[in-house]
Amino acid sequence: MTSTLIGSNPTAPAPRPPAHPELPPLSPAACATVAATLAAAPQRWLRFAATDAREGRWYERILREDRFEAWILGWAPGHALDFHDHGVSAGAFRVLRGALLERHTTRDSTDTPGQRVHLTGATTAFGPDHVHSVTAAGTAPTLSIHVYSPPLLTMTHYDVAAGSAPLATSTEVC
Ligand SMILES: [Fe+2]
Repeated sequence: MTSTLIGSNPTAPAPRPPAHPELPPLSPAACATVAATLAAAPQRWLRFAATDAREGRWYERILREDRFEAWILGWAPGHALDFHDHGVSAGAFRVLRGALLERHTTRDSTDTPGQRVHLTGATTAFGPDHVHSVTAAGTAPTLSIHVYSPPLLTMTHYDVAAGSAPLATSTEVC
């Protein structure tokens, strides 16, 4: 894999071009609109909600278009996904039930990550430089919808320490 320097973090992988360059990706705000629209259409995801008794974290893709895709995720209480990006994708997520604790930064930031809790009904959007960790913060299983545009190509995982930019540790192809 060819790599290039990105800001102050030479370990981050080179962004890949969109899968369909003729179709511009959705903005983060538009991803949030898709997430809210899907949340209001339980016929699109309710059949998966019954699986939330599974251990850990589970996910199912519920929509795939050229410009974006949507997943439903189930989280057992306390289950977490450590710091990661979403490749070249922007995105949004909406909490259908439960609560998600998000710690967030960007690929080149040396600041201490911010922290926020997203309760049931909350929607948040992010650009392609967003790096975050997500933890199910409630006492019951959490259910959430996640939208990515363009559809996820890669996901890079990071170690995050105060005073230095996120350090890429591995990249998975989605
Ligand atoms: Fe994420």
